[in-house]
Amino acid sequence: MTSYTVLSLVFILISAIVAKLYLKLITGWCPSQQCMVGKTAIITGANTGIGFQTALDFAKRGARVILACRNYKKAEAARRDIIKMTDNPNVFVKIVDMSSFESVRAFAQEINKTEERLDVLVNNAAAAFLYDEKTKDGLLLGMQVNYFSLFLLTNLLLDLLKKSQPSRIVNTSSLLAEYGTAFSVDKLHKYNGNFDLYTHSKLAIILFTKELAKRLEGSGVTVYSVHPGAVKTDIFRDAEGWAGSFMTALFKRWMNFFFKTSEEGAQTTIYCAVEKNIEKFSGHHFVDCRRVNDYKRATVPGLGEQLWRESEEVVNLTN
Ligand SMILES: NC(=O)c1ccc[n+]([C@@H]2O[C@H](COP(=O)([O-])OP(=O)(O)OC[C@H]3O[C@@H](n4cnc5c(N)ncnc54)[C@H](OP(=O)(O)O)[C@@H]3O)[C@@H](O)[C@H]2O)c1
Repeated sequence: MTSYTVLSLVFILISAIVAKLYLKLITGWCPSQQCMVGKTAIITGANTGIGFQTALDFAKRGARVILACRNYKKAEAARRDIIKMTDNPNVFVKIVDMSSFESVRAFAQEINKTEERLDVLVNNAAAAFLYDEKTKDGLLLGMQVNYFSLFLLTNLLLDLLKKSQPSRIVNTSSLLAEYGTAFSVDKLHKYNGNFDLYTHSKLAIILFTKELAKRLEGSGVTVYSVHPGAVKTDIFRDAEGWAGSFMTALFKRWMNFFFKTSEEGAQTTIYCAVEKNIEKFSGHHFVDCRRVNDYKRATVPGLGEQLWRESEEVVNLTN
């Protein structure tokens, strides 16, 4: 090995350590010690990753926590872990499959029938790399799981949230909402690659959050969208072929060192659910426990309203 190679390796190593330290320093931590005894929270996709850490945090704060998951075995294992780690026995599993409107409606119906209150709804469940697969409702799987079911579920639980006010909704989006080719409402049903599908579903969440905040003004229910950061989770588990190998390697090996842990990734969601005095920022987007400026694509006038009308029709909201 030449001295030039050794110097280059030392330079890369030091740069990586400096970058990691910088990323650690800018990672937002929720400072709130807010107790949640007497509060009920639902977290979708709570059996793993960011959703699991969010549920764990709420359980530590004493909340009644409902893990809204599609797989009973995984959810039950998560429930047991959370109870063991927190000594809070009020952690429950309810099944919801976000790829089916029937399942979302059945879940919401049960919650509305059995729960006296709902203080926090965290719409966290999502999937990436679902290709052009369609659901039995006839929609692109990625769009239904990530966005349309979130729209339906939130609307079906709104009365309970209003009854329990002050209450909050936290919608997990992504920085990637800013990218992909130009978003338009009619593109929600066209497959133009996994990247567009994911970024469009995440932009739809931000537009929905802003529109919902307007519609909820004065109701005591506030709503926020968040980007959790780049977090080492299993989000790309459905990726196949070269894309699958690339994303798995990126998240699990090459970039692993730089990415957040799930606990770090959950902080902004937790912040938006419990931090005091952020109600005036309803509709806003948060990153690293800080309010950030809107992504450019989320500011197109009238787009949120147009998306709302389309979503209402797609999910058949009035029935
Ligand atoms: N990781 C990142 O770098 C990153 C960056 C930006 C945004 N996000 C967002 O953060 C959120 C959490 O993701 P994560 O990284 O924690 O990923 P994750 O570990 O893969 O968790 C995703 C959760 O969603 C659930 N889910 C997937 N499809 C579902 C369906 N049809 N019905 C019900 N639940 C379903 C999964 O359940 P199963 O375990 O049964 O599959 C899992 O519990 C997502 O909204 C994601 O888009 C993540």
